[in-house]
Amino acid sequence: MLKVNEVSKSYKDKKVLKGISFSVKEGEILGLLGPNGAGKSTLINCICGLAKIDGGAVEVFGLDNSKNAKVIRQQMGVVPQDIAVVEELSAYENCMFMGGLYSLKGNELKTKVKEALEFVGLWDRRKDIPGKYSGGMKRRLNIACALVHRPKLLIMDEPTVGVDPQSRNYIMESIRKLNDEGTTIIYTSHYMEEVEELCDRIVIVDEGTKIAEGTCEELVKEVSENEMIKIGISKGMPDAAKLEKLKNTKRVIEVVENEEGFVVKSAKGEDNLRDIIQFMNDEQIVFNTINVIRPSLEHVFLEKTGKSLRD
Ligand SMILES: Nc1ncnc2c1ncn2[C@@H]1O[C@H](COP(=O)(O)OP(=O)(O)OP(=O)(O)O)[C@@H](O)[C@H]1O
Ligand SMILES: [Mg+2]
Repeated sequence: MLKVNEVSKSYKDKKVLKGISFSVKEGEILGLLGPNGAGKSTLINCICGLAKIDGGAVEVFGLDNSKNAKVIRQQMGVVPQDIAVVEELSAYENCMFMGGLYSLKGNELKTKVKEALEFVGLWDRRKDIPGKYSGGMKRRLNIACALVHRPKLLIMDEPTVGVDPQSRNYIMESIRKLNDEGTTIIYTSHYMEEVEELCDRIVIVDEGTKIAEGTCEELVKEVSENEMIKIGISKGMPDAAKLEKLKNTKRVIEVVENEEGFVVKSAKGEDNLRDIIQFMNDEQIVFNTINVIRPSLEHVFLEKTGKSLRD
């Protein structure tokens, strides 16, 4: 679907993209994760031909996008970070306008506009101008506009920033549905939770450079040396001697008590969960919950850059 090869881009003397490469396969949701100013939007502008690259190449649908922009654009949809709708036009007219730009006409245009507005849950409010919408509804209209021509590849630049939880859920569900129907998606965000939840594969960028790429599991595996298992106990907290014994179990590094029970930190090992459950049974410790705490992408970012993604 997409090949980004050693792409670089500067604004005046500021290098914003420093030779980024990655590719997107048909049918996947690729997450582009990075903090503010990492270069995500610039990268998207380069992919959809809105910004000219200084070096490298971008190939979309197997075509060089510096030479085939028109053909590529017919099958690509972009939801820009800044909401781009015409304030004077109703939601319906906005979508009709967008569809018209993609040369849709007549009944086909009307049908596709209806489908796009239904898809984002705005059909009932189609006659309103965006000024009457909440932030989340405006975002959904922004998405509908990008969907009218049914692109094969949809690029979304932080589509959930500043939206209410209800609209956010709606948007996340819509993305999954679109993907199930066969649309390939690039999803940009600086919220790691969203990317973890939604994306098949993730590219992490920072300061114009790709710092990691892989499935969430792969990325996390790469950096995590330890595992944490959290045990919830409502009554009958084991005494210090028992916890000390647990601490001496194979691979266990640390046992930390907390309000709900305790957390066992162990070196990586496939049998950790089994061993701990065995210990609990042997020692007759009654527990209500047991959770393996997965290290998150936050760990990955921290380990690779030395800073927090939330900075
Ligand atoms: N048109 C422009 N002119 C000059 N500098 C720009 C321009 N667009 C982006 N930049 C700079 O490029 C860098 C990357 O910006 P970009 O918008 O691509 O980041 P981002 O990862 O999308 O950030 P955010 O999460 O805040 O949207 C920033 O330092 C920004 O100031
Ligand atoms: Mg951006």
